[in-house]
Amino acid sequence: MDGVIKIEVPGRPPLAAFNLDGTFYVTDDTCTHGEASLSEGVIEDGLIECPFHQGCFEIATGRPAAAPCTVPIRAYRPVIERDLLHIEDDGA
Ligand code: FES
Repeated sequence: MDGVIKIEVPGRPPLAAFNLDGTFYVTDDTCTHGEASLSEGVIEDGLIECPFHQGCFEIATGRPAAAPCTVPIRAYRPVIERDLLHIEDDGA
């Protein structure tokens, strides 16, 4: 079963952590088209559909997959260590 939660991290924009059938992905949570929280969207076929205007992004890569989204969201490499989810962030 697929799911997503919003993660608030002090000092940075919120993240969205996805579990797609046991595989974890992390992206920025805020849509690049507006101020929507993608963790409130709908997951379907590896895409997250924005709750505001139904644009889509590929969860694994952050690439826009449906209009009106044209700017990618950042996708981070998740690492699971001792049941904790970490991300590699180069600060870019
Ligand atoms: S705010 Fe996400 S598609 Fe418009």
